[in-house]
Amino acid sequence: MEVVSSSAPHPYRRIATLKTAHDFANYAAQLGLDLNLDFQLNLGVSSPFRQPYHLGDISIGNRFCILPMEGWDGTDDGRASDLTTRRWRQFGESGAKLIWGGEAVAVRHDARANPNQLLSSDQTADSIGQLRHVLISAHRERYGSTADLLVGLQLTHSGRFSKPNRKDRLEPRILYHHPLLDRRFGIEPDYPCLTDGEIEQIIEDFVAAAVRANNTGFAFVDIKHCHGYLGHEFLSAFTRPGKYGGSLENRTRFLREIVAGIRRDAPGLLVGVRLSAFDLIPFRMGDNRRGEPESFRGEYPYAFGADRSDPLRINLTETYQFLDLLSQLGIKLVCISGGSPYYNPHIQRPALFPPSDGYEPPEDPLVGVARLIAVTSDIKARFPGMAIVGTGYSYLQEWLPNVAQYYVRTGQVDFVGLGRMVLAYHDLPGDVLSGRRIQTKRLCRTFSDCTTGPRNGLVSGCFPLDPFYRKHPQAELLKIAKQKLKAPPVE
Ligand SMILES: Cc1cc2nc3c(=O)[nH]c(=O)nc-3n(C[C@H](O)[C@H](O)[C@H](O)COP(=O)(O)O)c2cc1C
Ligand code: SF4
Repeated sequence: MEVVSSSAPHPYRRIATLKTAHDFANYAAQLGLDLNLDFQLNLGVSSPFRQPYHLGDISIGNRFCILPMEGWDGTDDGRASDLTTRRWRQFGESGAKLIWGGEAVAVRHDARANPNQLLSSDQTADSIGQLRHVLISAHRERYGSTADLLVGLQLTHSGRFSKPNRKDRLEPRILYHHPLLDRRFGIEPDYPCLTDGEIEQIIEDFVAAAVRANNTGFAFVDIKHCHGYLGHEFLSAFTRPGKYGGSLENRTRFLREIVAGIRRDAPGLLVGVRLSAFDLIPFRMGDNRRGEPESFRGEYPYAFGADRSDPLRINLTETYQFLDLLSQLGIKLVCISGGSPYYNPHIQRPALFPPSDGYEPPEDPLVGVARLIAVTSDIKARFPGMAIVGTGYSYLQEWLPNVAQYYVRTGQVDFVGLGRMVLAYHDLPGDVLSGRRIQTKRLCRTFSDCTTGPRNGLVSGCFPLDPFYRKHPQAELLKIAKQKLKAPPVE
């Protein structure tokens, strides 16, 4: 069997070596995975990808969705730069008809994950609204109609991972003390937690940002509940006293109050939620640079969507209760993710090559893909009326269209979410939808430079494959930074 390279510490087979659909299926079976694919792509009008999705009165033209991805390239005061605009233009050119949020936009300055994250304010609203305009114009130019294109904005508070002022200095805003994450990120035991009063102000900031998004034409906002950021941290705030911690009712009060504020102040705006539907205990680099779980004595009460007695095992009991709540709140747009890029990136962003400060994959990245797909399909089966977006397809590379077609065709997911693939090969959806052969030279090979860049204070982009970034002045700096191999983690 061909392996990654003779010096690689793991035996995972590169996807590019799986030359036929049968090779792929056999390899997945060899790994013991329940991961299916269609052996033939349907290139005609009856292609599952080309079927519109009806969300009430709204028709979304196809089944590709662009996942949110920051570029660490906004201006200091939170406006879009030329690089940001280029990325959004490419999202428009991609051919996907659902744009899940574009990228995380902070609802206040101290909520920013880096000093160049977009920031919602009265001063920046026009600039962020202009991104939507650029995206829609690019889509219209290439595909004609935009009537069936749905564009949302992702709103975030970076919580424990806030870095608003310096790229190398965390200024965490935490809800509770987490022994493993506090230790890893240098949070002292007496570091203050956000008070209930501060949380109430943050809720108002989310509502104000949603109103700005509404006023500038976005069809929905995503109240981000994934990847270890504040919204996600609420869901695991089991040990927090008071009205925002403990019971599930208290841990979801934050979301409910934001939604109530949006219904009050922007009644026509749709609300979506990107959710880490499961989590696992944090991982660290172990022997051979490979990831291994942190050890923890006794029950582990800090993960939403994992077993307390075995935090390497997914448990969706509360996830389903959370989704019941979304249904009661009239929220139908849900994007499924898992874990956090800060402490268990392999479950969130399966990759063969880790970012500079990451760890070698502790499992074949296909296992991570299959895990995300299986959780999503369980959720879709239980909540058939929700518009469910799946995540984690980029690692499938050549076989992305075949696997994605199977899961869309069999109704196990409504939209195929694409992250890194779109940084490398932004118009892959357009190629698949029009029956063109995919351009294998442009496929994301999960080199992780789009994460390594920001982890070293640089912008994000596909430095290895996108000719624009290959020639960008920061490409040289990235090479130097990769040699140094040290940096603080960011998403
Ligand atoms: C450079 C980069 C930036 C990202 N920024 C965000 C973000 O702003 N919001 C978010 O929810 N996820 C973010 N993600 C996660 C992606 O949306 C997606 O979940 C992840 O890359 C896995 O999907 P993929 O396998 O298609 O890449 C980011 C990922 C990358 C690589
Ligand atoms: S840098 Fe390019 S090839 Fe590497 S993971 Fe990011 S998008 Fe994929």
